[in-house]
Amino acid sequence: MIEAYANRHAAADAAAAILEQGLAEGLKSRARASLVATGGSSPAPVYRRLRETARIDWARVVIALSDERAVPPTSEHSNARLVRENLLVGEGAKAHLVPLWREDAESCEAAALAAEPALRAMSPFDAVLLGMGEDGHIASLFPGSPALGEGLDLGSSRYALGVPEPHGSPPLPRITLTLAALTDARCVVVLISGEAKKRIVERALAGDALPVGALLRQTRAPVRVLWSP
Ligand code: 6PG
Repeated sequence: MIEAYANRHAAADAAAAILEQGLAEGLKSRARASLVATGGSSPAPVYRRLRETARIDWARVVIALSDERAVPPTSEHSNARLVRENLLVGEGAKAHLVPLWREDAESCEAAALAAEPALRAMSPFDAVLLGMGEDGHIASLFPGSPALGEGLDLGSSRYALGVPEPHGSPPLPRITLTLAALTDARCVVVLISGEAKKRIVERALAGDALPVGALLRQTRAPVRVLWSP
């Protein structure tokens, strides 16, 4: 299940090609195609390649986020900002970004609930990009989080959840898509690098209880794990 690439550039190129294919397929049958973009350090090169090389009518693409930190959209920690600065540039600026966090939201949970109608309207997602932390988290579904019960329940009716207790790096309250939402998708790409993350995926595939394991074991959406050293 782990597809190995020589380096991060090659893995980013492959991820961009898979996302482009998903979006192109979506545009064949629907007025708008949908992409779930993620945060972290790995995806920026993917977004740049996608907007520079993909032959996509970006005006017909709607982008959601796999998760977001409860910070202003101008913050260096904002995933919306990461996507705006790397994907919504040039032709890519024609795409429509659906934010998960709003500054006027009373709480992460309120923001999550407010985002649900838009997320449902754009699903099934034509392409989903995820990273993974060395603790096995995907999106903002962190090991030990109270949100995991509902967040990993494929039968959940929720598409987004508030994660009010600070998690991740930097530790911040967050909003996350659920596994039910992330797998309502034509394809899911998990982009990882380094030996430590490879071992985490191998442990999850062997049955260890990690959030990424729930994604790897489900059969609703095809998942491709792209790895580079
Ligand atoms: C976030 C993420 C998170 C990320 C992983 C991997 O906002 O923090 O969406 O799930 O994808 O932590 O991050 P790296 O790419 O930095 O390893």
